[in-house]
Amino acid sequence: MEQLDQTLAAIAAAETPDAVETLRVAALGKQGWVSALLKTLGSMSPEERQTRGPAIQAAREAVTAAIATRKGALESAALEARLAAERIDLSLPAPDAPRGSVHPVSQVMDELAEIFADLGFAVASGPEIEDDWHNFTALNMPETHPARAMHDTFYFPDHDDAGRSMLLRTHTSPVQIRTMLAQGAPLRIIAPGRVYRSDSDATHTPMFHQIEGLVIDKGIHLGHLKWTLETFLKAFFEREDIVLRLRPSYFPFTEPSVEVDVGFTLVAGKRVVGGDGDAPGGGWMEVLGSGMVNRHVIAAGGLDPDEWQGFAFGTGVDRLAMLKYGMDDLRAFFDGDHRWLSHYGFAALDVPTLSGGVGVRP
Ligand code: DAH
Repeated sequence: MEQLDQTLAAIAAAETPDAVETLRVAALGKQGWVSALLKTLGSMSPEERQTRGPAIQAAREAVTAAIATRKGALESAALEARLAAERIDLSLPAPDAPRGSVHPVSQVMDELAEIFADLGFAVASGPEIEDDWHNFTALNMPETHPARAMHDTFYFPDHDDAGRSMLLRTHTSPVQIRTMLAQGAPLRIIAPGRVYRSDSDATHTPMFHQIEGLVIDKGIHLGHLKWTLETFLKAFFEREDIVLRLRPSYFPFTEPSVEVDVGFTLVAGKRVVGGDGDAPGGGWMEVLGSGMVNRHVIAAGGLDPDEWQGFAFGTGVDRLAMLKYGMDDLRAFFDGDHRWLSHYGFAALDVPTLSGGVGVRP
């Protein structure tokens, strides 16, 4: 069959899948020559069909097989070509992709969590939208208390279902109440988070960060407070020569209340934490508010103040970050300027650990 030889040769020589397809249609399609031959079988006599039939079937099979072979060869050649073109050279340097960094506030919060975890403190949290009972009343600040006015509170226009005024929490202290009510005693927690006050200048922003600490147990006294804060500040500033000065003060939620100063030394006109503040060239800087938890607060937390005592402390996370890492304008913390972030930010893998250093810049 001359036509068969020609078709097989053409298929073998076809250069593209499209060309193979055209040949397939010409042979096996409805109008194709093989199909036409197959149709002639119907009008043949049985003898003729017996002699011609096998040759026609063989031609059909030969063409079908040749098409499959050629298509397969063309497809694998195309795949080879694509693989060769798409190969990447892993020995090339990585492209200079933009890299994010961890904000100093997040880094310092991680440092604090690490330090206090080592002292057996868990991390607690509460809502930023609070009611005035948790934010004030339960913390021994009844409605008429003058300390409420000092907080420059953002109030919401509506009250909650219990008729309480709703506000943006002005400090992390309400987490003390929420944790006592939810977990009972004994307790050892820190509560880092955002707080809000209507105030704005170089050292105040309407939103800032605080960390609260609370210990409730039996027989807790001021010595436990002092040791804990000293241990914490030494770990945080990574210096053994941290000197504390405890000053009597007033907070509604603690009795007695203590303000804590750390000694600093002036180095090239800059305050560096460490050393005795009373030494020549030194001074004191307030870093924390603290005290023994007021009986009324323990009772508001659902505990018996004759059975449980405790101490609490609170401080600004942003301020701690500024002191440790040397920034001087708080507003830059919240501008989102990537130049500031890449200068003061931390590499994502620089996770604070006590063994590796809680805040060592690489
Ligand atoms: N809540 C206080 C503030 O925002 C800080 C504070 C002072 C928290 C003394 C305390 C504390 O837990 O004992 O100014």
